[in-house]
Amino acid sequence: MILVTGGAGYIASHTCIELLQAGYEVLAIDNLSNASEESLNRVQQITGETLRFIKGDVRDAAVMKDIFEQHPIDAVIHFAGLKAVGESCAMPLEYYDNNLNSTLVLAQAMQAAKCKNLVFSSSATVYGDPSKLPLTEDMPLSATNPYGRSKLIIEQMLGDLPAADVLNKTAPWSIALLRYFNPVGAHPSGMIGEDPNDTPNNLMPFITQTAIGRRQQLAIFGNDYNTHDGTGVRDYIHVVDLAKGHLKAVEKLLSSEGIKGVQAYNLGTGNGISVLDMVKAFSKVNHVDVPYEIVPRRAGDVAACYADVSRAKKELNWQATQQLEDMVKDSWHWQSLNPKGYKS
Ligand code: NAD
Ligand code: UD1
Repeated sequence: MILVTGGAGYIASHTCIELLQAGYEVLAIDNLSNASEESLNRVQQITGETLRFIKGDVRDAAVMKDIFEQHPIDAVIHFAGLKAVGESCAMPLEYYDNNLNSTLVLAQAMQAAKCKNLVFSSSATVYGDPSKLPLTEDMPLSATNPYGRSKLIIEQMLGDLPAADVLNKTAPWSIALLRYFNPVGAHPSGMIGEDPNDTPNNLMPFITQTAIGRRQQLAIFGNDYNTHDGTGVRDYIHVVDLAKGHLKAVEKLLSSEGIKGVQAYNLGTGNGISVLDMVKAFSKVNHVDVPYEIVPRRAGDVAACYADVSRAKKELNWQATQQLEDMVKDSWHWQSLNPKGYKS
């Protein structure tokens, strides 16, 4: 059985589909602070399989202890956390509390239960302001905001565990740190997708909400970067590809070969797409207008960021297969079927 923390969220719900379809039993825990249980109802409709759901907080040590005592958990995928960069600058303590304490409590419960297979949701944000592209996993790490720092601290904290196993002669931890680039898109059924609570921070939900008329126009943050058209370049990855990457990581953890200690993997496509490329592809594929204006750069943004994905290909036998056209089509399909997200 796989424990999925933050299981009702955007990336986790897509991952639950892949796990169920691959025959795993799934136990999801979520405090529903940024999600609706409806996402998991729909996961079950899509797959025709059932999963267990616990409404609870990963920081609650008693709840986590109970979970491990009552269920045969083979591996954990830890998605739960807060993720908005701007909000993290205004509420750093909430971010450190949620992201660090959830991981600490989870890891303690796992250690006590002798379940030491963990997949952690990290982020390309741990590379800070990239000095060289594409980004490989061994490049220097840094943080430019509290959200990013919370991910970096967690990576470092988990990085200390294998040495303790050697000292204590305990069974080894096996940990995959998955550094996501920019997840977009939705399940092709249009039944689950990204449903931001407030004004979206990220590009794709802003595009879809503008296209559907919930927002007047998209503000493009700068067209004077040193990129092919002056707008920011990112490595967008379809959320279903990303979800499949988690399945591959779990399979690797549970294989006889396993992952020795802690290993980081970039999950992206390796392709750099600009904001204007994205807007144009969205309009062309979906035959819908996205009004936009160019505004000054957003503070803290980098010109370009994309992954070297060869390690995940070699060691996890995973690579993204979906194209930009699939990403914009599936994002729009989800938004147009669910104009108000899970509330519609
Ligand atoms: P999301 O907000 O949709 O999912 C996170 C889920 O965790 C939510 O359902 C929320 O209710 C739950 N949660 C938060 N704190 C909790 C707690 N203490 N206990 C139980 N549940 C809790 O976000 P997402 O986009 O699916 O991201 C999932 C993970 O991936 C996060 O850790 C995020 O930082 C990381 N990540 C996301 C992106 C991205 O662009 N979406 C990029 C890189 C990394
Ligand atoms: C953001 C986070 C990063 C996180 C990543 C994935 C910041 C500073 N960084 O990165 O930590 O890992 O999301 O969740 O928030 N853009 C517009 N108009 C908009 C929104 C975005 O032009 O309304 C542009 C941005 O300038 C950028 C690109 O679109 O060039 C992508 O932006 P976004 O989706 O916010 O992701 P990142 O900035 O890569």
